[in-house]
Amino acid sequence: MTDDGFDELLAYVEDELAFATSHYNDSYLDRRISSRMRRTQSETYAAYLDTLRADTDEQTALLEALSINVTGFFRNPDVWSGIREVLQSLSDANDTVRVWSAACADGREPYSVSMLAHDDPDIDESAVTILGTDISEPALETAKNGVYEASRTIDLDDQLRFLDDYTEYVDRDGNTFQIKREIKRNVSFERHDLINDEPKTGFDLVICRNLFIYIDNEYKQSMIRTIAQSIRRNGVLVIGKAETIPPTLKSAFTVRDSRLRIYHREPMETNGLTRKQSEPDSSL
Ligand SMILES: C[S@@+](CC[C@H](N)C(=O)[O-])C[C@H]1O[C@@H](n2cnc3c(N)ncnc32)[C@H](O)[C@@H]1O
Repeated sequence: MTDDGFDELLAYVEDELAFATSHYNDSYLDRRISSRMRRTQSETYAAYLDTLRADTDEQTALLEALSINVTGFFRNPDVWSGIREVLQSLSDANDTVRVWSAACADGREPYSVSMLAHDDPDIDESAVTILGTDISEPALETAKNGVYEASRTIDLDDQLRFLDDYTEYVDRDGNTFQIKREIKRNVSFERHDLINDEPKTGFDLVICRNLFIYIDNEYKQSMIRTIAQSIRRNGVLVIGKAETIPPTLKSAFTVRDSRLRIYHREPMETNGLTRKQSEPDSSL
């Protein structure tokens, strides 16, 4: 991937189309760009760059291809059984349970948390509050509306089968699925960029799944540091099933379930994460 044409193409996308290619890993970028190159019958990166410069529709198509917005209700159901147990024990031990679904895309992940809290008799749903954040404003708009369309490729009925009877929580009209008000009540949304924005504080559970796999190592490290700083002592982190904690940050967590990628945050004073983000971290 030391192709000059590739680097020039990435520089154009970053500078002219305002998509931060430098945050993502090259293999992810190459997969998405190559797929657009096949569609436009461009043989080389340089030829594709010429097409891109001349064709605003192709610019839109590439930006669409680069945006990673795949999500679902109860994605990876086995992980949700693990999240259920975490919520049960947090609900048992605390008066309030604060959950952050970081990089929540169109909101189906935080709404899954709220539905699970309402559905499980061992979780006190009135104690659970959920914040969903994402970098994408359009995704957050959909999330706030809480209305989703099923299609040939998106089987919402199947995604919601994790619950015995999802119609208690979702109004269905044909292919349109609308989250009920009682489920929306526990959930709020705001924009947050995990690379550039400040950490949050005091979360009992942070769910951040299926973003790190696309991200360049350097930025992945700063994202996980931001998240770690946002979790209270002994709080819980859930990452994607194909994702890992970088070795330099492993000491900030203990493993709760290695297969499901569920971790406990180590007590603050032992892991060097309490310093402000702007201060240098000698462990990295
Ligand atoms: C593949 S989706 C994951 C959605 C959900 N967590 C799941 O696992 O189904 C990745 C999301 O990360 C968001 N994202 C990309 N860069 C981000 C950043 N720097 N900060 C916060 N969110 C980001 C994208 O907008 C997208 O909605």
